[in-house]
Amino acid sequence: MAGTRTYGYTDTLDAEHYATALRTDIAAGLTRTPKSTAPTWFYDARGSELFEEITQLKEYPLWRAELGLFQLHARDIAERTGARALVELGSGSSTKTNLILDALGPAGLHYVPVDVSADALHQAADRLVREYPRLELHALRADFTAPFTLPPLPEESPRLIAFIGSTLGNFRRAVRGPFLRELRALMRPEDFLLIGADLVKDTEEMIAAYDDREGVTAAFDKNLLHVLNRELDADFDPDAFEHRAVWREDEQHIEMRLRSTTEQTVTLGKLDLAVDFAAGEEWITERSAKFTTDGLRAELAGAGLRTDHVWADNGAGFAVVLATAG
Ligand code: SAH
Ligand code: AVI
Repeated sequence: MAGTRTYGYTDTLDAEHYATALRTDIAAGLTRTPKSTAPTWFYDARGSELFEEITQLKEYPLWRAELGLFQLHARDIAERTGARALVELGSGSSTKTNLILDALGPAGLHYVPVDVSADALHQAADRLVREYPRLELHALRADFTAPFTLPPLPEESPRLIAFIGSTLGNFRRAVRGPFLRELRALMRPEDFLLIGADLVKDTEEMIAAYDDREGVTAAFDKNLLHVLNRELDADFDPDAFEHRAVWREDEQHIEMRLRSTTEQTVTLGKLDLAVDFAAGEEWITERSAKFTTDGLRAELAGAGLRTDHVWADNGAGFAVVLATAG
């Protein structure tokens, strides 16, 4: 329609690619001991909605802690980077991103939100082009755990890659190194990487953030069963599983688990697979690592990234780290 502002959109995850990746991960994950699958599959339209509800829970302070750090320091981030292109991995609703866009100056800025969820990308993009008519927005539906190609960006100015929300913590430590090295390979010497990381804190507080009283996180966890029933023609009974959150001191991460309340066999039609669960058996559905600022600096250094600055909210236990490849 004449006069309607649109945005660029590239979908690298056609139905076949998505279905293959889902099948591969779930078949491998439900046949290993302990059972453990990738957190990527939570985020259908309902899962993205439930995550948004989680961000507003009093037990989940990390989202607000990061928002508070951007309120205080987005201008400093903008001045240090001088970025004219922002690439955001796992952008979701892009809500906190507004603060970074405002600080960088949205007119003529290139913004590339990257997410696996088409619904989240379209909702965020529709909102952002209304709020920032001069933003150059190109949404990219891609799996950030696999190589992806960025849309064309201006060559002459620095780029900022943002991976906020502590989503880096959803990777196990051994995977974070190679992942950060791949990000570094995307970066030119003048580019920056911005990481938001939840810090290790009181164990009860960390567990409560993943096991809230209202049961929103339990619904988010069990949404995986609905996704698998729909996408893989499975017959999971969500009432036959209960949600748990466990702090693994040895791994420095929270595990979200679905515990089978009874001995049962579940069939996944599209995988031609029957999976046995013992009564009380626990399936790890997500790992959320918690960091220390020194530990994160060391991980970045190990990937060839130099920490430029750390902004920390030590009360809330959250840090935002700016690093360069140069
Ligand atoms: N950064 C946002 C959203 C965090 S939720 C915030 O801080 O509020 C994590 C986001 O990562 C979700 O939007 C989810 O759809 C996306 N995501 C999860 N796994 C992904 C993957 N493998 N590739 C791309 N996006 C992914
Ligand atoms: C997106 N990710 C960083 C969130 C986390 O804290 O690991 C997802 C989440 N899982 C349960 N609550 C929130």
